[in-house]
Amino acid sequence: MSLRAFCLFAILVLVLMFTNILASEFSTMTMTSLGNETDRYALLEFKKQITDDPLEALSSWNDSLHFCHWRGVTCGRRHQRVVSLYLEGQRLVGTLSPYIGNLTFLRSINLDNYSFRGTIPQEVGRLFRLQYISLTNNTFRGELPINLTQCNNLKMLSIRNNKLSGMIPPELGFMPKLSEIHLNKNYFTGRIPPSLSNLSTLTGLILSFNGLEGSIPEELGKLTGLEYIMIGVNNLSGMFPHSLYNLSSLNHIGLTYNQIHGSFPPNIGLTLPNLNRLQVEFNQFTGEIPVSFGNISGLEIFSAGGNNLFGPIHVDFGGLKDLWTLAIAWNKLGAGKEDDLGFLTSLTNSTRLEKLELFGNNFGGTLPNSIGNFSTTIQYFLLEKNQISGNIPLGIENLINLSILSLRDNLLSGSIPPGIGKLKNLRVLDMQNNTLSGEIPSSLGNLTFLYYLSLKNNKLTGSIPSSLGNCQHLKIVFLSHNNLVGIIPKEVFGLSSLSHFYLHFNSLSSPIHLEIGKLQSIEELTFFGNKLSGKIPNSIGNCLSLHKLYMGDNLLEGNIPPSLSSLKGIEVLDLSQNNLSGQIPKDLENLQYLQKLNLSFNNLEGEVPTEGVFGNASAISVDGNDKLCGGIIELHLPTCSTTDLKRKNTMSKKVRAIMIVVPVFLLICSLAVYKGILNQVDKVVAIKVLNLQQPRASKSFMTECSALRNIRHRNLVKILTSCSSLDSKGNDFKALVFEFMSNGSLEMWLHPDMDVQNNLRELNILQRLNIATDVASVMDYLHHHCQIPVVHCDLKPSNILLDDDMSAHSMAQVARCQHMGMCTAMESSYWRCSQEKDQQMKCSKLHRFAKMAFPEEVMKILDPKLLPMNGVGEETEEETRLNFGSLGNVMDKLQEFIAPVIRIGIQCSAESPKERMDINDVARELNQIREAFLGIVIEAHQVRPTIQSY
Ligand SMILES: *[C@@H]1O[C@H](CO)[C@@H](O)[C@H](O)[C@H]1NC(C)=O
Ligand SMILES: *[C@@H]1O[C@H](CO)[C@@H](O)[C@H](O)[C@H]1NC(C)=O
Ligand SMILES: *[C@@H]1O[C@H](CO)[C@@H](O)[C@H](O)[C@H]1NC(C)=O
Ligand SMILES: *[C@@H]1O[C@H](CO)[C@@H](O)[C@H](O)[C@H]1NC(C)=O
Ligand SMILES: *[C@@H]1O[C@H](CO)[C@@H](O)[C@H](O)[C@H]1NC(C)=O
Repeated sequence: MSLRAFCLFAILVLVLMFTNILASEFSTMTMTSLGNETDRYALLEFKKQITDDPLEALSSWNDSLHFCHWRGVTCGRRHQRVVSLYLEGQRLVGTLSPYIGNLTFLRSINLDNYSFRGTIPQEVGRLFRLQYISLTNNTFRGELPINLTQCNNLKMLSIRNNKLSGMIPPELGFMPKLSEIHLNKNYFTGRIPPSLSNLSTLTGLILSFNGLEGSIPEELGKLTGLEYIMIGVNNLSGMFPHSLYNLSSLNHIGLTYNQIHGSFPPNIGLTLPNLNRLQVEFNQFTGEIPVSFGNISGLEIFSAGGNNLFGPIHVDFGGLKDLWTLAIAWNKLGAGKEDDLGFLTSLTNSTRLEKLELFGNNFGGTLPNSIGNFSTTIQYFLLEKNQISGNIPLGIENLINLSILSLRDNLLSGSIPPGIGKLKNLRVLDMQNNTLSGEIPSSLGNLTFLYYLSLKNNKLTGSIPSSLGNCQHLKIVFLSHNNLVGIIPKEVFGLSSLSHFYLHFNSLSSPIHLEIGKLQSIEELTFFGNKLSGKIPNSIGNCLSLHKLYMGDNLLEGNIPPSLSSLKGIEVLDLSQNNLSGQIPKDLENLQYLQKLNLSFNNLEGEVPTEGVFGNASAISVDGNDKLCGGIIELHLPTCSTTDLKRKNTMSKKVRAIMIVVPVFLLICSLAVYKGILNQVDKVVAIKVLNLQQPRASKSFMTECSALRNIRHRNLVKILTSCSSLDSKGNDFKALVFEFMSNGSLEMWLHPDMDVQNNLRELNILQRLNIATDVASVMDYLHHHCQIPVVHCDLKPSNILLDDDMSAHSMAQVARCQHMGMCTAMESSYWRCSQEKDQQMKCSKLHRFAKMAFPEEVMKILDPKLLPMNGVGEETEEETRLNFGSLGNVMDKLQEFIAPVIRIGIQCSAESPKERMDINDVARELNQIREAFLGIVIEAHQVRPTIQSY
């Protein structure tokens, strides 16, 4: 029994991953003549190739004006010929006409941020006066035209962020005036041409984000005017040429993510005195960090994480006033001895310091008290995975702008400084795996932005401060493996954002407060190995997001609350080793996702059910309950007496009652629907006015509404209420009131340009994965877990609404599509939407596109906004900085997650519905991918509430 995942869903998955390839077609107009015929004609031909002009940038390009006055066109005063074409950011869509080559007086072309497709015409080679060409942020394909290298006056060549491929033409090296080459973010392959060393005028070379290989040519050392070289994220290897260390003009070296090796020469600080950025993360540099670094007084960024640097650091950073990033994680730095961190004191002079990443090294000794004198600009202080011992200096409380503080996996002792509560901007606080003692400071409650808190595996005592309930952004909390006592404060249960809460292996006691039911977002909850007593509150059934609940090894008593069967998403339920008594609630059979149920070593009695999870002997454990009977044969329990069987019959009546309600609900789907937003005093809601033409539908309106309310899923837009009255004309007026989703529709996020006010909106990978997972989960629910399979029929980005947390909610426009006249019966009781033609075409286009790239090339088709740009000198480098990347080769890591998502997209959009995946599998797999991704993100401390890039 399986309903196939729909093409529509696949579109969504694919669109989420490459929003950049959709384009539409429009027509153009013609005009009459004025001015110089050749140039005018060439410009008109240029315009002809523009298929979409959303901002009407070219509306002035008509015969009512001389072309010299057309927007973006500048002419020479004397001869009235076009000398510059400047149409940056006009969002034009089209191809670049070869007629451009006729504008022979052109000196400068700027067509940045278009949606130009196709190739760059060879005719540009005729523009012999050209000095400046910038075609950044387009989708030009094919090779860089060789003829362009005939433009002997060219100074600036900027074709960043396109899809150019092939080799970088060696002929570039013979252009007499070329001073800047920006070819980053393309698909260039092959070597960096040694001929570039002939460009005596060259000041800048950016080739990052390509597929270049081989070594960096030693000859580049001849470029004595070179100021920046950025070649990160390629496959370059070999030794970093020593000749480059002598280019005193250099101020920026970016080599991130290659396999370049070598060591820094001891005199680097003397030969490269002008350096302000040295970014060599994730290469194979070895050796020590030379003391002469202390002479590079203008150094702003030194990032060398993920290399093989070793030894103690003796650099005096006291003269580096502008240093704001020192990122040397994942090396073998330090000697594992006292005073390894002595150099930190010299950083107190760096008044712009923001990032200090020292994790994953061999630093020993204690943290100097001087860290309290760091500039308050510091935001990231990451020291985990070293051998740092001693106390945490009290002065840490001065660093009031800290956003991430990670001290985990060290040998720290003493107590957590009470002043930690002064770090009001803290989002991640991680001190797990140390030997910290004393109580958890109640001042933690002042950290209202805190998102991730881990204190697990220490020697903390005392109780959990109730003030934690003030940290309204808390999502993930690890307090396990300590010696905590007392109650679990009910205030903590008021944290509606909390999704992962780990308390196992402590000595917590007393009954669990019934407010636990307020944990709306909780997914994993671990209480095992404590001394909790009393009954399990029935309110636990309200924690509808729960996946894993571990309550074993406590002193809990009373019945297993029947409400547990409302936890539809639960996968693991462990109530073992308590004093629970009574029957096993039979409804647990209905928990579709339950894979592990451990009820062993309690005092349970009566019949063990046989359906659902109970049908799989390896998934359940009921040992150590002497009074249980029945169950599947593998359990070897005694058979039950007849009294047990009576209960079974009363149960099945309840199921039948539910079956009656659902068909009534289906009527509602045939209504025409309007939208509106009502801004009330206390609540913003969305309203759908129903046009009730059919008498039958009208009659049962209230019944339908209540039935619709029964279709519940955390990702379906909730119906809050309904209203029914007469409108001004005395007609029946009925409306449904929905939750208002503050973040608008997915459509607006995928195509931010449609939202002029808010064009900075961007979705990161995690958010996209969350959305895909949420949508799959709704579809799975509608297909498989409603009493009658329900088909959505109108799944598209504009119908996916995003709430405050950026969780996706599908409008509950569910329908049994037959009523809408757009369905064909597929399999006996299932329905399939027939999609509109263009959606089908879009889908098959995306399908083919994705299939061609899968699996090796998927990173190349990914929405470029999702690519990491860490440290390669892109304009957006800091905003999109990929913290998560500091764990390894980020592209590989990303591919690990992206490839399976694309595969799901491809499989869901297979032409024949029979070949498509079951949405059930889709939901499960997406969830696994998301969890794994989240796991890595958490692992790497990238858990930031306002995750910018991932
Ligand atoms: C157009 O340009 C050509 C070539 O420079 C020139 O011969 C011709 O006179 C110009 N015509 C006008 C109308 O400006
Ligand atoms: C301009 O360029 C096009 C295409 O490259 C060419 O066919 C045309 O003859 C050229 N000359 C004039 C005067 O338009
Ligand atoms: C490209 O350059 C070659 C060599 O100068 C020339 O023969 C050819 O016509 C040029 N192509 C175009 C389209 O201008
Ligand atoms: C290209 O696009 C990126 C990202 O959208 C943007 O940050 C950058 O400013 C653009 N570059 C240019 C030259 O406009
Ligand atoms: C800070 O800089 C001053 C000179 O500007 C220097 O005398 C002092 O030693 C430096 N402090 C540290 C801690 O390096």
